[in-house]
Amino acid sequence: MKNNEMINLIKRRRSIRNFKEEQLKEDELNQILECAIYAPTGCYNQPWHFTIIQNKDVLNKMSEISNEEMSKSDDKWLSNKGKKNKPLFFNAPTVVVVSGKEDAYSPLTDCSAAIENMLLAAESLDIGSLWCGLVSHFFERKEVEVLNIPEGYKPYYAIALGYKDGETPEPLERRRDIFTYII
Ligand SMILES: Cc1cc2nc3c(=O)[nH]c(=O)nc-3n(C[C@H](O)[C@H](O)[C@H](O)COP(=O)(O)O)c2cc1C
Repeated sequence: MKNNEMINLIKRRRSIRNFKEEQLKEDELNQILECAIYAPTGCYNQPWHFTIIQNKDVLNKMSEISNEEMSKSDDKWLSNKGKKNKPLFFNAPTVVVVSGKEDAYSPLTDCSAAIENMLLAAESLDIGSLWCGLVSHFFERKEVEVLNIPEGYKPYYAIALGYKDGETPEPLERRRDIFTYII
């Protein structure tokens, strides 16, 4: 099987949940954001908006409120998770909220493509990243106003970014029974 840096990188990337406190360098963050906007988009809509948050008070509030909402859930797993009140972003120093333009052709898909580009760009710079979906509970609350999301855009996900504290874990096993070939 052929081996190249891009393929190795894709297979090496892991969700990181241990971050150093040190902030990312500006040019590293800019490179990651630049890669986000080179993702493909339906009808070339580019229907996204990126909110870069480095304010600890805001990040703590987002985490706290999400956990509070989760703890009220009927879903046992979710409510237990919320009650533990663990920091949602694992103290990453930078979090990027990705929002999609609601009337675009395929905003959620386009934003997800941008997110994957960010995760891979981060890994290429040896920067840790985590795709955070649980923050959606914060997006439902009025306190989301603090993010100043532009009118017509819906926040979907947050991406935690920071220098890894410790070794990158080994890749998780992947299912292999998911391919159908029509020859
Ligand atoms: C849509 C989406 C939402 C996710 N939300 C969270 C989250 O809120 N918290 C978390 O710790 N990991 C979250 N993850 C990370 C997954 O748990 C992780 O990607 C998966 O377990 C596979 O591990 P890997 O990324 O290291 O390969 C999310 C991943 C995706 C794609």
